[in-house]
Amino acid sequence: MVNDLNHLAIIMDGNGRWAERQSKRRSAGHEQGAKNVRIITEYCAQIGVRYLTLYAFSTENWKRPKTEIEFLMKLLSKFLKKELKTLKENNIRFDIIGDISKFSKSLQKTILHVKSETSNCTGMTQILAINYGSRDEITRAVNQAIKKGIEIEEKDIGELLDTSNFPDVDLLIRTGGDQRLSNFLLWQSAYAELFFTNTLWPDFSNGELETILSKYETTSRRFGAL
Ligand code: FPP
Repeated sequence: MVNDLNHLAIIMDGNGRWAERQSKRRSAGHEQGAKNVRIITEYCAQIGVRYLTLYAFSTENWKRPKTEIEFLMKLLSKFLKKELKTLKENNIRFDIIGDISKFSKSLQKTILHVKSETSNCTGMTQILAINYGSRDEITRAVNQAIKKGIEIEEKDIGELLDTSNFPDVDLLIRTGGDQRLSNFLLWQSAYAELFFTNTLWPDFSNGELETILSKYETTSRRFGAL
């Protein structure tokens, strides 16, 4: 049996350790991680993945030192400005999930600019999860439902989540050696295949992704049936 891969989600972990192993600052690891976002994104677009969601900043990441948070915000802004051209060249639509109202006005503006500039792209959709946490997302969805005064069914929750325009996750990969979901796409990954690798995110290559994809393709996905 060969499985389609509509939606691939990745927890990009291990930037800090990658840097520490080379006696570099953690920020160098994040920079290398951002470069790898481009490499993996282009590859996914080429092989026909329809949706690629990348966990770039979680609702829990605000607990990190202020200097690291500030660095990540600047990196994100720089990355978005630089990536716009590459996204368009590769016909990639850009989108986000998460509550961006907590970001600076200028970062919000950049995010919305890249989103609108790529809105007519018809290839893969790259979705950055930024200030994203599943529990926050579900809480916001339930509050919207309460405001509308509707009794909730499963499909209503799906339609109120940040991911309402995207299909469920088919395959979720976490780099960096830990085997947990860290509040990432909990609802959407109910039937996702999970792959964990010890490789640190900056070292995660197209070759390793290809190996994981060939395992994924032949996995028997039963969605609870026989
Ligand atoms: C985990 O590494 C990584 C993050 C905090 C988020 C991912 C960020 C990037 C890939 C770089 C920026 C991305 C974009 C799109 C500009 P870690 O710091 O938790 O690593 P560690 O577990 O080794 O400490």
